[in-house]
Amino acid sequence: MRLISTNICKTSDIGVNNNLFGGRMLSWLDEVAGTLAAEEACHQNMVTLKMDEVLFKKAVKVNDHIRIYGKVINVGRSSVGLYLEARRFDFGSRNEELVCSTKMTFVKVDDQGHSMPVHPDVREQLIIKIKNQKNSG
Ligand SMILES: CC(C)(COP(=O)(O)OP(=O)(O)OC[C@H]1O[C@@H](n2cnc3c(N)ncnc32)[C@H](O)[C@@H]1OP(=O)(O)O)[C@@H](O)C(=O)NCCC(=O)NCCS
Repeated sequence: MRLISTNICKTSDIGVNNNLFGGRMLSWLDEVAGTLAAEEACHQNMVTLKMDEVLFKKAVKVNDHIRIYGKVINVGRSSVGLYLEARRFDFGSRNEELVCSTKMTFVKVDDQGHSMPVHPDVREQLIIKIKNQKNSG
C-alpha cells in the first residue's frame, strides 16, 4: 500500500464534539481514491460507483495529520477496486494509528459518462500487480 495524500484537520473541518466531520473524511477518501483509480487505470475520467462500509475507529482532532494510503485490489472490464486506509500520524513517535478503512469501486467512463473498458495492456499490468501484492502478503 502506498501513501497517496496527507490531509490536515482544520477548524473548518470540525463537526460534533470537536471531532473531524465524518463527511469531510468521506470527501477526502473519495477524492484521493479517485486520483489513485485514474492513475491505476491510466484514464482521467473515473467515477465513484461504490463505497463500502466505513467504520470511524478513532476521533480526529484539529491539527491532526491524516495520511491516506491505498492500493488496487481488483480490476474488471471497466471497474477498478481499491482498498484505502486513513491513518493519524504522530510526529513525536512517528507512529501511525488507523482511523478508518474502506473499499471503493471506480468505473472508467467516456465523455458521455458511459462505462468503457480499461485498456487490455493496463488491465493485464494491474492483474499482475494485484497478484504480486497477494503473494507478498
Ligand atoms: C458508473 C456508471 C457509469 C456505471 O453504469 P452502468 O450502466 O452500471 O455500467 P455497466 O453496466 O457497464 O457497469 C460498469 C461496472 O460497474 C459494475 N457494477 C455495476 N453495478 C454494480 C454494483 N451494484 N456493485 C458492484 N459493481 C457494480 C459492473 O460490474 C461493471 O464493472 P466491470 O465492467 O468491471 O465488470 C453509472 O452507474 C454512473 O454514472 N453512476 C454515477 C457515478 C457518479 O456520478 N459518481 C459520483 C458520486 S455521486
